[in-house]
Order: sequence, then structure tokens, then C-alpha cells
Amino acid sequence: MHALAPLLAAARAHLGPPPALDALEQAMAAVESEALGPALRARLAGLAPGARWVGDDLLVVPGGRVSLFLIPAGGGIPLHDHPGMDVLLRVVAGRLRLRALDRVDPVAGLARPAGERVLGPEDGVVAGGPVAGNLHAVEALGPCAFVDVLAPDYGPGRPCRYYAEMPAPGGLVRLVERRP
Ligand SMILES: [Fe+2]
Repeated sequence: MHALAPLLAAARAHLGPPPALDALEQAMAAVESEALGPALRARLAGLAPGARWVGDDLLVVPGGRVSLFLIPAGGGIPLHDHPGMDVLLRVVAGRLRLRALDRVDPVAGLARPAGERVLGPEDGVVAGGPVAGNLHAVEALGPCAFVDVLAPDYGPGRPCRYYAEMPAPGGLVRLVERRP
């Protein structure tokens, strides 16, 4: 875990409120590309193939949260949102497919597909904001791990919701809340 200590120190200093997003992004970018230590690597390797994901909160402060997610081969995190939040994501082991949607009309539950990328440790930080890339889904392409910075954190009025997608006019999708 020591490889992530500089990130956690930066997060303590910069999560706010308000967050200093540039400083947080720099701290994420500076995480060494293979930041998992042997213990976490062994834990990732030992996850049951049927498990979807496990998450550890590394830091929770009033301005936000830093979490580490471990996903076994075949696992993933269904489409979900980060209402009103900024999200920074960095893969630290393995590879995953990240599919993003932009928030278009939260009241009507409409979103616009914003592409997908295969990401590994060499790809640096992927940022989502309150509108652009605010929803995403993660599919593991083998055992993988990523670090997430949320600013602010989920909380009252900002629940994390999971969604199924229905086609909607204009190339949009209608989001239908579902269980994770
Ligand atoms: Fe997320």
C-alpha cells in the first residue's frame, strides 16, 4: 500500500471542499504504474472467479474519497453514476474496458454514450465530471485493479445508482434503475 501513500497525502490536502482537481490529477498521474504491492497482488489473484469486484476505501474525508477496486477475471462493475461529482480513475494492475456515458437529462433519465476505452497502467488518469463521463461501466479483461478518487463523496442527495439501458431517440439511452 505504501506505493499509494503519496496519492493519499495529496488527497488529504486537495480533496477540499472545494477540490483542487488539477493537483489531484497530478497526484493520480504520479502513481507508479504497477502500484499494487505483493499482498494486494496475491489478494487479487485469489479472488473467486465468480466475484464481481471488491472495493477498499483508502481515505474518506469531508471532500471526497479514495478507493481501490480489485476485479477478478470475468468481473466488472455495472453502469452507475456519480451525481454532481468529479471522478478520477487510474488502472494500477491488469487491463479493463471502461465504457462512459455523458449525463444529458437526469430528470428524464437520459444519457449519451461517450465511447469506450481499454485501459492499463500505462494509460494514466481518466477523468469524469458532473456531466461528461459521469456514468461508467467497468469490465475486467483479466484480473485488474484501479484507484478511484471521488470529489465530493457519495452521500445524502448523492446516492450511487446502477442502471440498465434502453434505446432512446437521437442516439441517447434511457437509464432504468436496477440493483447492482
Ligand atoms: Fe464509478
